[in-house]
Amino acid sequence: MLAIIGGSGLTRLANLEVTRRQVVRTPHGEPSGALTFGRIRGREVVFLARHGYGHTIPPHEVNYCANIWALHSQKVKDVVSVASVGGIRPDLAPGTLAVPHQIIDYTHGRRATFFTRANHSVTHIDFTHPYCEALRQRLLRAAAAAGEAVTAGGVYAATQGPRLETAAEIDRLERDGADMVGMTGMPEAALARELGLCYAAIAVVVNHAAGRGGSTGGIRLEDIGAISQAAMERLRNILDQVVMLDDG
Ligand code: HPA
Repeated sequence: MLAIIGGSGLTRLANLEVTRRQVVRTPHGEPSGALTFGRIRGREVVFLARHGYGHTIPPHEVNYCANIWALHSQKVKDVVSVASVGGIRPDLAPGTLAVPHQIIDYTHGRRATFFTRANHSVTHIDFTHPYCEALRQRLLRAAAAAGEAVTAGGVYAATQGPRLETAAEIDRLERDGADMVGMTGMPEAALARELGLCYAAIAVVVNHAAGRGGSTGGIRLEDIGAISQAAMERLRNILDQVVMLDDG
């Protein structure tokens, strides 16, 4: 089954015919909310709002372990993460959708592994390619089928938040090779890999990163809502197609 984790601007899926909601208890605490099961065009999907259905949980307080564990416990195999980002690369202007292929993790103080001394011997995962390539390709095919332009590839920098970055921090991220910046991509992707889930992200650029383009004088937070809403409409078309392309 496919899971969709919705980020800021996507707390529900309009096209989802909801069949049931389930509160899942996990050994890692509470997920961001009940899992919403339903169908899109006859295919079973489960949805979870990363920041809670009332958008109350900030990026650094999301219980990523509980969310990923809960999805895994419900026989989910594929996870599409929807994430808002700031665009660093000049072509990643507000309103752009992108399917990143790499991650740099700048987060700290978040619980980032299921493998603790208490329950496992020393365990490492391969994370050379942090996203599941099959699901990335499926997202790109879905976008083509929906007639929506998406940028194929990009390096996602995960910052701690909840504050936005300084202009110098964005310069540094760019020197590091980052194309876009968001606050929720990690440890989510790594936890999904630890449990063997196929995980990919679709990023919605909602602002120019600090000091770039229209954000040279500062990020106009009041503009983000409208940009995000318009982009989410396009994203919904893509998600419909992703579900249709389900081969499992
Ligand atoms: N920085 C970090 N996270 C974000 C941004 C940003 O500019 N925009 C949306 N999420």
